[in-house]
This record gives sequence, C-alpha cells and structure tokens, in this order.
Amino acid sequence: PVEYTLATIKPDALAEHQDTILETIQSAGFTIFKVKETYLNRGMAEEFYKEHRGKPFFDQLVNYMCQGPCLMMILSKENAVEEWRKLMGPTDPAEAQRSMPESLRSKFAKSILQNGLHGSSNKTHAMEKMHFIFGDIDLEQ
Ligand code: CMP
Repeated sequence: PVEYTLATIKPDALAEHQDTILETIQSAGFTIFKVKETYLNRGMAEEFYKEHRGKPFFDQLVNYMCQGPCLMMILSKENAVEEWRKLMGPTDPAEAQRSMPESLRSKFAKSILQNGLHGSSNKTHAMEKMHFIFGDIDLEQ
C-alpha cells in the first residue's frame, strides 16, 4: 500500500545540498506530496522532538534545528516510512559510510548530531508529525 512519511531536510543540509537531495528523493521514486519551508522556533523544535526530551543531546538538537529554515515534506511511496529511512541511512554518519555508502547521511551528514535529515520512525509517529507540521490534512488511509 502507498504510505506517507514526514521527511525533513535540516538547516545545514538545506542550505548546502537542497537540489541534490531533492533530486535523489525523486529519483528514488518518492512523490513529494506536500512541502513547506519551516523556520522552527525553540518551542516547536522541542515539541517536534519531544520523544528525545531528557537525552543528553536534546538542547544541542534543538539549537541545531533552529539555526535556519528546514524543509518539511510529506513523502509518499509504497512502504514510505521504511524506504525513506533506508534512503537516509543510519543516524551516525560513520556507520552510514560503513554500511550504506550510497545513503544521504553517508554523503551529507557532518556528525551524529548534524546529520542533515530526519524521518519518522514508524507510521504512528509519521501521522503525528505530519499533522503537527501540516495541520489538518487528509491522507485518505
Ligand atoms: P533524527 O533522526 O532527526 O532524530 C533525533 C536526532 O537527534 C538525530 O536525528 C540526530 O540529529 C540527533 N542525535 C541522535 N543521537 C545523537 C547523539 N548520540 N548525539 C548527538 N545527537 C544525536
């Protein structure tokens, strides 16, 4: 079945590699169903990443996400949640380079924090984050 996921190009990657990343997404067969450039404030970034509240890197993560605009997208494809996570590669770029050298994080992530891209980890989170960013959208499923 066609599925939807929330994908984010984080501020540094958007400033430096927007065109290449968007081309890669389209070549991989995703449809960009919705797209919105979003300059998160601290409150929004904290809410977006509320699952990580309390972790040692939480403040740095919020600072990173607020350093400039992000590109927020709803991607659709068969198995979009898992497929987008595969295209991004692992959170840690060192691991991405080792195990998934063709992935976006292998190519564009600078560190485990500044890893350039985000994707929902499961369908429940995907629904929640898509509504948080895009409001009351209809995703007929
Ligand atoms: P993301 O997939 O968007 O989900 C949570 C983010 O927290 C992650 O990408 C990284 O930007 C950041 N992150 C995860 N683990 C660490 C870590 N160990 N140290 C610093 N930042 C991290």
